[in-house]
Amino acid sequence: MDNPSGIGEIPDDLVLGNGHVHVWNLSLEPSTVLRGRLAGVLSPVEQRRAARFHFDRDRIRFIAARGLLRFILSLYLRLQPEQIELIYGPYGKPALARRANKNGFEFNLAHSDSLALVAVSRSGLVGVDVERIHLPMDMNQLVECFFAPREIQLFQKLPPHLKPLAFFNLWTRKEAWLKATGEGIAHSLNRVEVSFLPGETAQLLTLPTEVASIEQWSLHDLDVAPDFAGALAIACHRPIISYRRWNFSDGPQNSVTTSFESLPDRFWRAQEFAATKAG
Ligand SMILES: CC(C)(COP(=O)(O)OP(=O)(O)OC[C@H]1O[C@@H](n2cnc3c(N)ncnc32)[C@H](O)[C@@H]1OP(=O)(O)O)[C@@H](O)C(=O)NCCC(=O)NCCS
Repeated sequence: MDNPSGIGEIPDDLVLGNGHVHVWNLSLEPSTVLRGRLAGVLSPVEQRRAARFHFDRDRIRFIAARGLLRFILSLYLRLQPEQIELIYGPYGKPALARRANKNGFEFNLAHSDSLALVAVSRSGLVGVDVERIHLPMDMNQLVECFFAPREIQLFQKLPPHLKPLAFFNLWTRKEAWLKATGEGIAHSLNRVEVSFLPGETAQLLTLPTEVASIEQWSLHDLDVAPDFAGALAIACHRPIISYRRWNFSDGPQNSVTTSFESLPDRFWRAQEFAATKAG
């Protein structure tokens, strides 16, 4: 299949059927050559935003995330990456401008450290979140300030070694849903309740009352990488989630070559297992 972006071949299985979600797992540490290529596809607004970052590392990650997002969307829309027109919701959620999006693609982006996720679907609003699991200094305080009474109680009873994973389950699962609706985390963190105890399947338990029906939504953990928690919320009951990675490498004469991988479910856990064995 021809690639409109001109830097690689699109795999034939990139067709996004009803009920399917593609989750792209991206590294935000591009080579210098690739960085230039990605910066070149940003819109003037994105370029101005990139220029405002104080630290180079943050600027590079922003350029990589937005540039790769444009390349990914270009594959589905059959446009050049720089032709992708983004519009923004009242709380800043980027979406595709309707006139170029006749097939109803929805997407969402999240990043943490040097890793980003992009979820793409045609089956309803979608939100993703990813966080590196660490020990936040103010974890107990954050839980008490922002979460629901039932969650606070359950969290406080956990043994200390389970708290970081529980905290990031809680955070990423709620945020994924709040990003799917586009509202963000400013108002309703304590009005969305989710399962979060280590080992519990991701599940939405309570949504703000004005939302039509909890049944139309589903929540899923994402296999991202060791030490990362990831979650996806979508307005679709039983989506089929598949993972994808787009590998870029510098070719001769400053060109960029690409290859695609469709990653089977559980890929990341298998990788973690292999790393443990090797260690
Ligand atoms: C959206 C939000 C949850 C992101 O939190 P975060 O953990 O820092 O960042 P994440 O990595 O999860 O996601 C960032 C990406 O989500 C997307 N995004 C931005 N706002 C969004 C929103 N309201 N809903 C969904 N996605 C959003 C963008 O692609 C952003 O990437 P960018 O940095 O390239 O622009 C947080 O910024 C928020 O709550 N925003 C709402 C702000 C608000 O209420 N503003 C008041 C009115 S303007």
